[in-house]
Amino acid sequence: MKGIILAGGSGTRLYPMTQIISKQLLPIYDKPMIYYPLSLLMLGGIKEVLIISTERDTPFIKTLLGDGTDIGMKLSYKVQTHPNGLAEAFILGDEFIGKDDVTMILGDNLFYGDISFFRDAVVAHQKRTHGFNARVFGYYVEDARRYGVVEFEKQTGKVFSIEEKPLEPRSNYAVPGLYIFDSRCVERAKNQKPSKRGEIEIVDLIKTYLADNELGVTVIGRGVNWLDTGTPDSLLDASQLISTVQKRQGLMIGSIHEIAYRMNYLDSAQFGTLIAKTPKGPYRHYLERIVQESTD
Ligand code: TTP
Repeated sequence: MKGIILAGGSGTRLYPMTQIISKQLLPIYDKPMIYYPLSLLMLGGIKEVLIISTERDTPFIKTLLGDGTDIGMKLSYKVQTHPNGLAEAFILGDEFIGKDDVTMILGDNLFYGDISFFRDAVVAHQKRTHGFNARVFGYYVEDARRYGVVEFEKQTGKVFSIEEKPLEPRSNYAVPGLYIFDSRCVERAKNQKPSKRGEIEIVDLIKTYLADNELGVTVIGRGVNWLDTGTPDSLLDASQLISTVQKRQGLMIGSIHEIAYRMNYLDSAQFGTLIAKTPKGPYRHYLERIVQESTD
């Protein structure tokens, strides 16, 4: 399984914060936003990730994350020249995906809590449970009208319908910016026509799998928080939530360095080298504590 983080876009709702920098590089409390979607992919066992962003922002993201060696990952980059839609990621990712399955997460989607749902989904996808070659996620919300909405059979997770921002939602399950596909998504995206708003829509790509009875859903339980961070208010709310939980537990959410260590992407010596390179301060102190506690 490979991973894609789609981290471009225009960030108009966060203007002027995004006038000179990507939304995905803005902080969610004490870390850059992109750490959080990256950490989910890492926790799902994914080691090869393509990061897609704008011409302006890709160099900054590259400076931040490099080729991934520091965290035992293999990171590569691709520019999306215009925000032509979410499904364009698979056209841009053609070579990267090759014959592999791929998980895509949007750079502004943050999950926090018991993320075993994601690991289970990766396993289910790899086993092609119920013949599903594509998988979306369903998150219960009070008012689903602002989202993509999925209607499905509870027992098997077989999807009956998926609709973008419906006036009358057929269920309360919103679809987050996290998707799993087989490698055929590349050809399918290439054959798609842009929508009326000029975008290569992910919902249209998903519907090709639905038409073939190959679309499944994994329900995300209520123990997981799914936060969108696209508006000033949601950005602040996300920061506050992360801050509150971290202070209570003394454990970080979305530290890609800690995750690399805990997932054994790095051995103790490599983690030691990483810590030595980290500027002295609270973040380094935290990583040192993680080592200390894991060897106690
Ligand atoms: P959106 O929130 O739909 O768009 P945006 O980030 O440009 O923000 P705004 O609506 O305020 O202008 O995008 C969701 C995520 O997908 C976000 O992380 C940016 C990313 N994205 C791309 O990278 N390329 C695209 O073509 C689109 C449409 C989105």
